[in-house]
Amino acid sequence: MEVIFSESIRTDEASVVIVVVSDDASNFIESKLQLFTDEKTVQYIRAECKDLSYNKIKSFNVPALDGKFIEIIVACAGKRGTFTRASVEKLGGYVSGAIKSKDAKIGIYNDVESELDMAASYIASGIILKSWVFDKYKTSKVSENKIERIECQSCYLSLNQETFAKLTSIRDGIFLVREMVTEPANIMNSDKFLEISLSLKRLGIKVSVLKKRDMEKLEMNAILGVGRGSDNPTYLITFEYCTDKTKDRIALVGKGLTFDSGGICIKPSNKMGDMKGDMTGAAVVIGVLKSLALQKMKTNVVGVIGVTENMISGSAQRPGDVVVSMSKKTIEVDNTDAEGRLVLADAIWYTHKKYRPKVMIDLATLTGAIQVALGHEFAGLFSNDDGLADDLESSGKNVGEKLWRMPLHPSYENDIKSDIADVKNVGSGRGAGSITAAMFLKEFVPNSMKWAHIDIAATEWDSKDRALSKRGATGFGVRLLNDFIERRHCSRGESGL
Ligand code: BES
Ligand code: ZN
Ligand code: ZN
Repeated sequence: MEVIFSESIRTDEASVVIVVVSDDASNFIESKLQLFTDEKTVQYIRAECKDLSYNKIKSFNVPALDGKFIEIIVACAGKRGTFTRASVEKLGGYVSGAIKSKDAKIGIYNDVESELDMAASYIASGIILKSWVFDKYKTSKVSENKIERIECQSCYLSLNQETFAKLTSIRDGIFLVREMVTEPANIMNSDKFLEISLSLKRLGIKVSVLKKRDMEKLEMNAILGVGRGSDNPTYLITFEYCTDKTKDRIALVGKGLTFDSGGICIKPSNKMGDMKGDMTGAAVVIGVLKSLALQKMKTNVVGVIGVTENMISGSAQRPGDVVVSMSKKTIEVDNTDAEGRLVLADAIWYTHKKYRPKVMIDLATLTGAIQVALGHEFAGLFSNDDGLADDLESSGKNVGEKLWRMPLHPSYENDIKSDIADVKNVGSGRGAGSITAAMFLKEFVPNSMKWAHIDIAATEWDSKDRALSKRGATGFGVRLLNDFIERRHCSRGESGL
């Protein structure tokens, strides 16, 4: 697909024309549509679009000046003064969903640019984000709705080209996450994960791997216990991307369960297949690192992912087993399905010991309870530091990946007390499942370290279309962490892009 920014669109080559307007811009519609269709049709469309409001779209299939038919889409970005990058990108997503032409050659005009000079690149990016499909296992690709070209009219060519290049690097990270999450677990096993991780070396990222023997030496019994029932190996993979040593080191830690059957505490079969996506946290860590490196961002980031599989066999860990974690804290495994926190317990401790980061953010599809609490809109945010939580929340608002802060409070500590070990891996009280999971993780976080845990169990995947993704994997987290790192932990600071 080709994306071009130009001062005037090649009117004779567009098969789809998109006009993005504020809610008071019917003159703008008229002046642009006159280039493509007759006056009567222009007036008809203008009248039809009179009452368009925020995020509403109207599409028309009308005769073009050359006698062929052309698809015209008018999309409303809302009231002047309310446009944001996130809202305009989202609108691009809605527009994308409305395009009917196959092999579309899209021409975009936007009236939003008068307020948001890089609007064109955000609209184009939204269109592309939404058009992503995973069809590699379909032997006939009949429903294919490819976009051949997007041409955006803009007065700010170099700014939009630069912004679009940046958004493309971020999209590459998002698409990698979506791909990894959508691949079935027989393909996306731990070896495949390792292969993808190692491929980041090409981008200047240092990648290292701890295998079973290395982890045994480090006494990482919490993560090793989870992988015991699987025939696939367990890995702890680390990434180092340091292009500015003067910046505080920030660590991203991810849960990478290539499949979570629940183990001996087996999950019900309905929807169990969705658990191929239980590696999303780890995939997001990889996706973020990839996009940072593609942007050549000047920063100091390490990534650590625990990659394993929660299966059932004669060697699987049992409910009631006690494991000694790398931190020496003992854990009673009350429920083998609460395995993500066991993986993270060792991954968090290892990251602290090895890298001593100032800030650590872990991402995990940790609890089904987060969907009960927040649905698919907000991811759950837990943090021991108000400043860090505020920064993450504000990045979330900026990019449209929303976070809702949840409590981490000593009053929940009793819930994870074990009779025979230091902690147990599930809460004894009823409810608050996402909070007790976060409280468990906190046991492995040193007090001196700023730490945030993001529970993405319900935002990583949606059974319905979303603004920027079709049903399935969303890639939630990549844009959020890119924004957070760019604003708070990169030498350029706020780049203005
Ligand atoms: N991977 C699941 C959480 C999950 C559920 C992710 C639904 C995505 C969609 C996690 O390992 C798990 O099984 N958690 C249990 C915890 C319980 C046993 C305390 C849960 O949420 O039911
Ligand atoms: Zn589980
Ligand atoms: Zn899990």
